[in-house]
Amino acid sequence: MSTTPSSHNGRLYIETVGCQMNMLDSELVVAALRRQGYTLTGEIADADTILFNTCSVREHAEHKIYSALGRLRHNRARRPSQVIGVIGCMAQKDQQLIFQRAPHVDLVVGTGQLAQIPELVEQSRVDRQQRLAVSLDRRDATRQQVSDSFVSYDPLRDPEMRPSPFQAFVRIMIGCDKFCTYCVVPLTRGPEQSRPPQDILHEARRLADEGVREITLLGQTVNSYRSVSDGRTWRLSDLLLALHEIPGLQRLKFVTNFPRDMSDDLLQAVRDLPKVARYLHVPAQSGCDTVLKRMKRGYTVGEYREMMHRINATVPGCAVSSDFIVGFCGESEESFQKSIELVREFRFKNSFIFKYSPRPGTKADDLLPDDIPEDVKRRRNNELLAVQNEISEEDNARLIGSEFEILVEGLSKSARKQLTDEPAAALPLADSHDEHPQLVGRTRCDRIVVFDGNPRMVGNLVDVHVYDCTPTTLLGTIVTREVLHTSTDGLPILA
Ligand code: 5AD
Ligand code: SF4
Repeated sequence: MSTTPSSHNGRLYIETVGCQMNMLDSELVVAALRRQGYTLTGEIADADTILFNTCSVREHAEHKIYSALGRLRHNRARRPSQVIGVIGCMAQKDQQLIFQRAPHVDLVVGTGQLAQIPELVEQSRVDRQQRLAVSLDRRDATRQQVSDSFVSYDPLRDPEMRPSPFQAFVRIMIGCDKFCTYCVVPLTRGPEQSRPPQDILHEARRLADEGVREITLLGQTVNSYRSVSDGRTWRLSDLLLALHEIPGLQRLKFVTNFPRDMSDDLLQAVRDLPKVARYLHVPAQSGCDTVLKRMKRGYTVGEYREMMHRINATVPGCAVSSDFIVGFCGESEESFQKSIELVREFRFKNSFIFKYSPRPGTKADDLLPDDIPEDVKRRRNNELLAVQNEISEEDNARLIGSEFEILVEGLSKSARKQLTDEPAAALPLADSHDEHPQLVGRTRCDRIVVFDGNPRMVGNLVDVHVYDCTPTTLLGTIVTREVLHTSTDGLPILA
């Protein structure tokens, strides 16, 4: 059944959990629905269409969605024309199970079928049939067939629909082939596929023309990017070089890196290209070789160390952040202490720490007992976080007294809270009654800095003097220079 855009299609409520890839997917789905006449609402009770963009990486994220769906059961009886959709990773993973657990759900749409959402929502509203649109299971078909069933969703975007006018995510890869034993992503996002460089460059040029200053390239293992185009192979370093030429762009970032694919050409690109952030997120996951082997990460602590030495030798001062899983199957106290030692040795800028959560369909869940009690997982999580925070605060304290060039991102969290609870995206800066509200930006090493400034600085590079810090944030003041920066509308910015 085909549908035609109507001028008014009702109110859309969308809730997004999970990674930056999900944030980008939601942005693109919202843009597509708004083009069809939908308006966004922050009130679930007012919505005609409710979408949950979901995450399956840990069980907790799935529980939250099933609870939210449970709460809608009665709401639905009051609004029979309402369409409820579960989209993204959980949709691909749980499929029919979602209809069984929540019979009032109308749509289950996987990560590879997001382009179909506007049509599926319309169809559901008309005939009230449940619809499932998902990709092939990796075990049920050839690699090519499975890859073809995971379609990357990268429509061109309308500038006013981006969460921030100056920052944008650009997908360069989908899927993952690493199959770490604990991880569900290779199943929910499918085989690794790199987008053609021309498509990425075209999207980036368009974004730059629309005023975007900072692009973050997204991929599950972004540094594994490979694409053959015009008879040559493009690596991430080649992409960065080409993106660097685009006028208007000031910052380029990329997440997430896989340790084994941290090649010298990439590190040299980070060193040589001034627009590229000197910041690498390279998850170590554990500091113990036995655990790394059980996780099937494909490197030893010694190899991770060698990579860190190459990073430090090639890009001095480069900030590195990591992810860790604590309480993985068979992680002894001694193994855990090795993760603590790793954090102490490499002094990561920050680490994201997670308690192991067994995921159905993964090798670890099939073969290894989840034998670390929850309270031990929690204690290890807190302990590792405390060590990381201590290091982050010490390293931030060393930066007190220094000056940094920062890209201004918007009002700080506390300035936003003072105004409204809405996300930064929806907040017109002009609404700030304070002439010098607290702004937030990031250094080239991705360190967060808050300072009082003129909202018209947003999207510009400014110099800031750091006078204090917390483990996560530097506190600064604007450095006044003789030469004034110029804002986007050509007016000088007075610091
Ligand atoms: N349990 C806990 N943490 C996990 N991660 C991935 N899978 C799991 C799991 N089953 C973490 C890893 C990864 C981050 C995005 O989530 O640290 O880098
Ligand atoms: Fe998951 Fe490992 Fe792939 Fe990262 S590299 S997405 S942890 S399987």
